[in-house]
Amino acid sequence: MKISASFLSIKDNLKENISRLTKTDIDYLHLDIMDGSFVLNKTWDIEQIKGIINYNKPLDIHLMVDDVYKYIDQFQVLNPIYITFHYEINYDIMKVIEYIRQYGIKVGLSIKPETDVEKILPYLPYVDLVLVMSVDPGAGGQTFIASTTDKIEKLRAIDGNFLIEVDGGINIDTIDLVKNVDIIVVGSYITNGNYEERIKNIKEKIYG
Ligand code: DX5
Ligand code: ZN
Repeated sequence: MKISASFLSIKDNLKENISRLTKTDIDYLHLDIMDGSFVLNKTWDIEQIKGIINYNKPLDIHLMVDDVYKYIDQFQVLNPIYITFHYEINYDIMKVIEYIRQYGIKVGLSIKPETDVEKILPYLPYVDLVLVMSVDPGAGGQTFIASTTDKIEKLRAIDGNFLIEVDGGINIDTIDLVKNVDIIVVGSYITNGNYEERIKNIKEKIYG
């Protein structure tokens, strides 16, 4: 299981703290992009991001935006390993998948807690990753919604080549609920404490 660390909840000294975070034993840096439309909050624009991130870890971009093509065009320059977008936007999902892929970037498709797995079945053969949201997208530090684990089970039962990533509310108490996924996104649990120590705690829970 891989760990993708979200820095959404880091409050100050962002550049310096991201630098500390990417020197730890995480696998990916998870970049949450919000537009103030698909979700209420708004995060950084591409120029701000260029000023604060480094490339010590592969980037895993999570777009919580309506105007998805605009953000793909802007953020593909960072050369991420994944760009993940939401099923719930008002665009032709297949076209967005193809659009990300033409940049040579792996494609993730995300579903909110209220969206059923059945809705994305037609797209599964064409994506590299399914991101199951275990909180309502829009903010860090929320409580894990336990019923979302049913979706992970359903996805696991499907014979496909996609990875399963889960995002939101994962900490030392909830990690046991998501042990059968490929990538976990962990934000505030890591960044509200000593990074190395918190990552070590998580790895101990995963590997025993
Ligand atoms: C929520 C974001 C998550 C979030 C995870 O909308 O997509 O990536 O930052 O943070 P925690 O681990 O604090 O829920
Ligand atoms: Zn995220």
